[in-house]
Amino acid sequence: MTIRKVGVIGAGLMGSGIAQTCAQSGYETLVREINQPLLDKGVKRIHDAWDTMASKGKLTAEQVAENRARLHATLELADFAECDVVIEVILENMEEKIRLFTALDHILKPGALILSNTSSLSVTQMGAVTKRADKVCGLHFFNPAPVMRLVEIVKTISTSDETIAQVQEFAKSLGKTSVLAKDTAGFIVNFLLIPYLIAAIRMLENGMATRDDIDAAMKLGCGYPMGPFTLLDYVGLDTTLWAAEAIYEEFKDPLYAPPPLLRRMVVSGMTGRKSGRGFYEY
Ligand code: 3HC
Repeated sequence: MTIRKVGVIGAGLMGSGIAQTCAQSGYETLVREINQPLLDKGVKRIHDAWDTMASKGKLTAEQVAENRARLHATLELADFAECDVVIEVILENMEEKIRLFTALDHILKPGALILSNTSSLSVTQMGAVTKRADKVCGLHFFNPAPVMRLVEIVKTISTSDETIAQVQEFAKSLGKTSVLAKDTAGFIVNFLLIPYLIAAIRMLENGMATRDDIDAAMKLGCGYPMGPFTLLDYVGLDTTLWAAEAIYEEFKDPLYAPPPLLRRMVVSGMTGRKSGRGFYEY
């Protein structure tokens, strides 16, 4: 099957970044949100990113116009019927994902692939509610999706080798390097990244060093582009908490147990950059 039309369900930070990546890679791209204000916000984020790229000379005015023409927006799930691939980028809530996968399985044509951008929930469980589990796998992007060069392809017990090969080609066409991971919570990156972020929060809770010194230490001492607190705010404290909980749930390893401060900040709405307040203020 030749992939021509891509669907992206969810136009939040990750969804809009993924839709941007697909549209600027030449795919007809349909993006969906649950209400008009969220959809408008997601599409505006993409248009603004292209305008910024144009102002830096990375895109011509003609390329911006072509990208915009390839990007379509909808509130209706039924509009995805013609898509060859649909990428799910909704909230990390298994009940919601199951509802969506069940509906998509009915709407999509037989050969279409359903991919999940989940960072730690079971892709196997999502595929199992469809009649096309062989055509379901994870395709996990990193924030900011248009810039980060990696995607993790997550193979379930049921995903066919043919699907994996198609998704590897698709990832390559988006300009990404792919790695293959089994469907275990955290895959590769979050299994390694979450304990590091959690350890930084514990250091702060225990008064071992200040926020700024911990950030400076990892940035300047290890050459990381961002210190752990800047990265936590960037990724979202809620996203980090969900990932930690999911990995802890699967392995019961205390390394992944969410620290009390993380939980309390999320409950208080301090989710990082997106809410204007996390470990830093924006
Ligand atoms: N679209 C297009 N280009 C974008 C963009 C977007 N949405 N966002 C940023 N860029 C471009 C900028 O325009 C800039 O381009 P230029 O160098 O040609 O001018 C380039 O990316 C770098 O951006 P900035 O100059 O604004 O800032 P930095 O040089 O500090 O880089 C960063 C920003 C790329 C975010 C860098 O700080 C970084 O790599 N940080 C670490 C991010 C990271 O670790 N992400 C993974 C998180 S884990 C995750 O997502 C998994 C989840 O499951 C938890």
